[in-house]
Amino acid sequence: MSETAANPVPQHVAVIMDGNGRWAKERHLPRLAGHNAGAKAVERTLKAAKKAGVKILTLYAFSTENWSRPQDEINGLFKLLEQTLDRYTQDAAKHGVRLLVSGAREPLPPSILAKIDHAVSSTQANTGLTLNLALNYGARQEILHAVNALLAQGKTQATLQDISNHLYQPQLPDPELIIRTSGEERLSNFLLWQAAYSEFYFTPVLWPDFDETEFNKALAAYRGRKRRFGGV
Ligand code: IPE
Ligand code: IPE
Ligand code: MG
Repeated sequence: MSETAANPVPQHVAVIMDGNGRWAKERHLPRLAGHNAGAKAVERTLKAAKKAGVKILTLYAFSTENWSRPQDEINGLFKLLEQTLDRYTQDAAKHGVRLLVSGAREPLPPSILAKIDHAVSSTQANTGLTLNLALNYGARQEILHAVNALLAQGKTQATLQDISNHLYQPQLPDPELIIRTSGEERLSNFLLWQAAYSEFYFTPVLWPDFDETEFNKALAAYRGRKRRFGGV
């Protein structure tokens, strides 16, 4: 840690919520029990982020590669998502959370899409924390989506800004900090474009055990990082 480093609280924190399955396995429970416990960690993390003054929290909930999981696990995950969305939409005013979703719409079922659209539109005026849910999200797919949007406009040459402008949520600043739980140290197709200068924080804590203390540890580590952006 540099003596002079003392970064302000990051505006945007992104989290790869990993380890639900292993948490359940340790307890001889079905994987879905791990996902249920993971949903509770989402609520704790939202509160912790708000308390710390973080403005945007991007949570990786389901990757484009997660379709390769057993169908009953996928069904369970989406059922959990629907329940969570219902609850959050009802409590939206209380939480002050604005929901955004990053990801492809296909092949999500119409029932889920309707719930997502409703949750997004009914929370859009909230001025508290922005929760950007990465759902059916793949970073390569996101970059391809931007390139195709530019081609559709007839562009034959693009700038860096053109690509940034056509990502799923172009108005969001890049995350200063990316956290991954469960001891895995890889991006797994998450935010490849936006992570160009993000700081990474890896913890062995499994996602269902993640809480305010763990979140604040990540913020403390970030605070001490010397960010150079290619300079000296
Ligand atoms: C993260 O936990 C949740 C999702 C990817 C949906 P995992 O389900 O990947 O848990 P592990 O990695 O098997 O422990
Ligand atoms: C990344 O976790 C995706 C999410 C957290 C939603 P995975 O568990 O799917 O990643 P890999 O397969 O270990 O790389
Ligand atoms: Mg995993």
